[in-house]
Amino acid sequence: MNTLNSEEKILEWLDNSLSPFKELMAYYKCAMMEIETKFNVLNEELSLKYDYNPIETIKSRLKSPKSIAMKMKKLNVSASIEDIEKNITDIAGIRIICSYISDIYMLADALLKQDDVKLIQIKDYIKNPKPNGYRSLHLIIEIPIFLHSDKKMMKAEVQIRTLSMDFWASLEHKIKYKKNINESLIDELSAELLDCANICSQLDLRIEQIKLKAKN
Ligand code: GTP
Ligand code: MG
Repeated sequence: MNTLNSEEKILEWLDNSLSPFKELMAYYKCAMMEIETKFNVLNEELSLKYDYNPIETIKSRLKSPKSIAMKMKKLNVSASIEDIEKNITDIAGIRIICSYISDIYMLADALLKQDDVKLIQIKDYIKNPKPNGYRSLHLIIEIPIFLHSDKKMMKAEVQIRTLSMDFWASLEHKIKYKKNINESLIDELSAELLDCANICSQLDLRIEQIKLKAKN
């Protein structure tokens, strides 16, 4: 085994070993910033044109090294930067929250029309909700980031949802990961959550009707 006999050597080794991963995470952060800017630009333009902001909130997150490790294990991804980039598509995550369902599709179309945005995968959990009631529009996209002498294509996951979809998903997430939940309660809570998801869905449809009526 190669033992490192000075602190400087160890630090140098750590830095070299970590730097490709640190670099990769920095690129994902740049991709996240690019996508956030694209949505901010759309929000600004639409607010000038129609006098309202379709986007309520933008939330972004970089997947933590621990979650990346868990996903690598789950998907059987080998320990190489190339394989991580190829197979883990949600290291950069951008969540867009809107008031209206129609704005979700309008924003998705506006993003996908841009000529530097490549769609990799779309999952419409609004038209086809998950069995537990989860709804959201998920896009896996690829966008270029421009470095000083290079252009790099980066993947990211964009989730677009209404306020009520977001409210439900945060609640469900908290309950799902709550420790010490009594086993006998799980079925009852799942049924309750599904019922709430249906109420949220009806609410979204009613809010959409209000928007349509107000427009006419
Ligand atoms: P992950 O391994 O969780 O990334 O799932 P996946 O690769 O099958 O992708 P999917 O598009 O189904 O889900 C991606 C992300 O959507 C998750 O990381 C969550 O942020 C969100 N999500 C999906 N399903 C649920 C759900 O049932 N409840 C909640 N609260 N969030 C969900
Ligand atoms: Mg994920």
